[in-house]
Amino acid sequence: MTKAIIFRETGGPGVMSWEDVQVGKPGAGEVRIRHSAVGLNYIDTYFRSGLYPFPLPASPGMEAVGIIEEIGNEVSGFSVGDRVAYAGRPIGAYSEERVMPADILIRIPDSIDDQTAAAMMLQGMTVEYLLQRTFHVKPGDTILFHAAAGGVGLLACQWAKHIGATVIGTVGSEEKAALAREHGCDHVINYRSEDFVARVKEITNGNGVPVVYDGVGKDTFEGSLDCLQSRGLMVSYGNASGPVRGVDLSILTAKGSLFVTRPSLMDYTATRSELEQSASDVIKLVESGALTLRIDQTYHLSEAVKAHEDLEGRKTTGSTVFTL
Ligand SMILES: NC(=O)c1ccc[n+]([C@@H]2O[C@H](COP(=O)([O-])OP(=O)(O)OC[C@H]3O[C@@H](n4cnc5c(N)ncnc54)[C@H](OP(=O)(O)O)[C@@H]3O)[C@@H](O)[C@H]2O)c1
Repeated sequence: MTKAIIFRETGGPGVMSWEDVQVGKPGAGEVRIRHSAVGLNYIDTYFRSGLYPFPLPASPGMEAVGIIEEIGNEVSGFSVGDRVAYAGRPIGAYSEERVMPADILIRIPDSIDDQTAAAMMLQGMTVEYLLQRTFHVKPGDTILFHAAAGGVGLLACQWAKHIGATVIGTVGSEEKAALAREHGCDHVINYRSEDFVARVKEITNGNGVPVVYDGVGKDTFEGSLDCLQSRGLMVSYGNASGPVRGVDLSILTAKGSLFVTRPSLMDYTATRSELEQSASDVIKLVESGALTLRIDQTYHLSEAVKAHEDLEGRKTTGSTVFTL
């Protein structure tokens, strides 16, 4: 018998419980993996709350690291005993052990410890595709990144600095502002006490920025459009404050022939070669020291309810990892 976090109905964090589960044998193309650490991501709350519908009962979680214990038929490139990590579907990472497809696994070098590996995959590959492929950030560009002291945010500040860009970041408290600055954010705006649109205009001498990365969603959507230069790109990549709905496209003309995209990591790592390239870029930057994973919270996996409350309560900074 092994344990996992299960939810049988959608709702607040309290719908999750730590239960005994059966783990079957791996089928064709699958492996059984024993997790050593599990990553917490905001998307886990969307599945739990019902924002992203999913058949129930289910176990949340899209990211973990562990050891392969058993291999099904038609799996090549992996062996029992390999230390691997992953970020992607199917959900179910909040478990001590699970069966899953082998084609999303990435072998992790010994130089990277379990907690770092569990924290870096989903948020790291997200930053990779956001800064290199959704909009290609170049040295000298000035970008706006919301929630700059969060898991994705702190990695984005470091990666954008590494590229040679100027980063304007928003945060919800003075403590978070200090953290964003320490991780390469050049201009930090507390959007709970300051008008972020006015501040971005001031910092850019009235020009605005060519790209805004917005994982906050509903609360910042319109303001983000106002921070853009004419023909700028709004990258709406998350819903921490709620989803953006019912956008009137004429607003994009009125604000300067703007572009909007709503990307997902799954579409940017859809092929094995894209996944390997993205993971390899992250691993290289972590090994070189250009990217430091700041794991500010750890919880035992059985404490997932508390972890979700803290994440949704804006109490966390940097990345969060579940131990086992
Ligand atoms: N599309 C993709 O491929 C993809 C992949 C990974 C993550 N994401 C998205 O990226 C965003 C960040 O993910 P993360 O896991 O790194 O989380 P996170 O940034 O560590 O946590 C979310 C942060 O959002 C801010 N926030 C603003 N308004 C909020 C509200 N009403 N409720 C809760 N938080 C609010 C908070 O920071 P402040 O207090 O500083 O405002 C909070 O700490 C999420 O929207 C997530 O869904 C998207």
